[in-house]
Amino acid sequence: MSFSVTTLPGGMSADVFLRDYWQKKPLLIRQAFPDFENPLTPDELAGLSLEQEVESRIVLEHGATPWELRQGPFGEDTYQTLPERDWTLLVQAVDQFVPEVAELLQAFRFLPSWRADDVMISYAAPGGSVGPHYDNYDVFLLQGHGHRRWKIGQSCNPESPLLEHPDLRILRDFEQQEEWVLAPGDMLYLPPGLAHYGIAEDDCMTYSIGFRAPSHAEVLAHFSDFLGQHMGDQQRYSDAGMNTPADPAQIDEDTVERLQRLILELVQDKEALGTWFGRFMTEPRYPELIEAQEPDADMLAEALDNGFGLVRNPSARLAWRQEQDQYLMLFASGEHCLLPTQLLPLVQLICNQDYLDAEQLNSWRQNDEAMQLLEQLLAKGDLLMEGDDE
Ligand code: SIN
Ligand code: CO
Repeated sequence: MSFSVTTLPGGMSADVFLRDYWQKKPLLIRQAFPDFENPLTPDELAGLSLEQEVESRIVLEHGATPWELRQGPFGEDTYQTLPERDWTLLVQAVDQFVPEVAELLQAFRFLPSWRADDVMISYAAPGGSVGPHYDNYDVFLLQGHGHRRWKIGQSCNPESPLLEHPDLRILRDFEQQEEWVLAPGDMLYLPPGLAHYGIAEDDCMTYSIGFRAPSHAEVLAHFSDFLGQHMGDQQRYSDAGMNTPADPAQIDEDTVERLQRLILELVQDKEALGTWFGRFMTEPRYPELIEAQEPDADMLAEALDNGFGLVRNPSARLAWRQEQDQYLMLFASGEHCLLPTQLLPLVQLICNQDYLDAEQLNSWRQNDEAMQLLEQLLAKGDLLMEGDDE
């Protein structure tokens, strides 16, 4: 059973996209999602922005200050006081709250699912924009409702001059190269670092399917932290056989090279690196939405007997890795467990499907390790019993 998809929405081969566009250059796909049915109305999006657990913001081009940023959650009255035009509401991680939005991610399975960040949705009044900027992430901008004019500019880097603004990173200079108006169902892929400037032509909703990549600083700091936690303080810098220093106050080349060898040896540990990375990339965005449950084996058996399946907690992140054919590692929301390789088909189902139906799980019911795994994930809150996921 294959869990990946080999074509992009709109039909381009994934191999061609990955070779020619991914992380390199923008791609406009007209009617990537033909007859796209917007799963959320502007009112429903505004409704989400009133919720405590949802991250939202409003950008007003001509607010109390230019490009005024307001942070949610908002009150009911917010939307009555906004001007007719030139503002945008942005709601983060809507996929974690609206299953129909999470389903959209299925179409992006030509990329590793642990690279996916979230689906952010914006609603803009005519003229609304968040200004010319660049992002550090790859993003697919799917037009959900109305029309947006996208202007594409230059490649940027941390030295690209920005406007003075306390919260927003708006480019001071925008060198336009291309311009397209997107209609519902059209999608634009942008690689990281490319300047872009989207302006709503009318009432418009845009879905940003974002992909995250850890910064080098994060990789270095977090991995070394992880390694450090698993080391005693017995292993020490060693300089046996060193020469008498020419000047005892000097830190010489040999010393630096000894340190470099020490670090290179430590990072050679591929198993540790894979384990750390799986844990790191599956850390949930909202850990508070993954609630531990009382483990209850009888309840699981009863649910399966009655034909109820299991639902993946939309806030959980899951991935797996196989360690040299010896054992499997399942990563679930920042933690990992070791499993026998025979469980691979089950692990693949768990990681790739939003819903596991009772029939799919039936063949595993005689396998104690499989049932223990399901119980463990239910207890952790990464899986939910069907019906408890409302
Ligand atoms: C928007 O949807 O208004 C902004 C998306 C983006 O530019 O990244
Ligand atoms: Co952007």
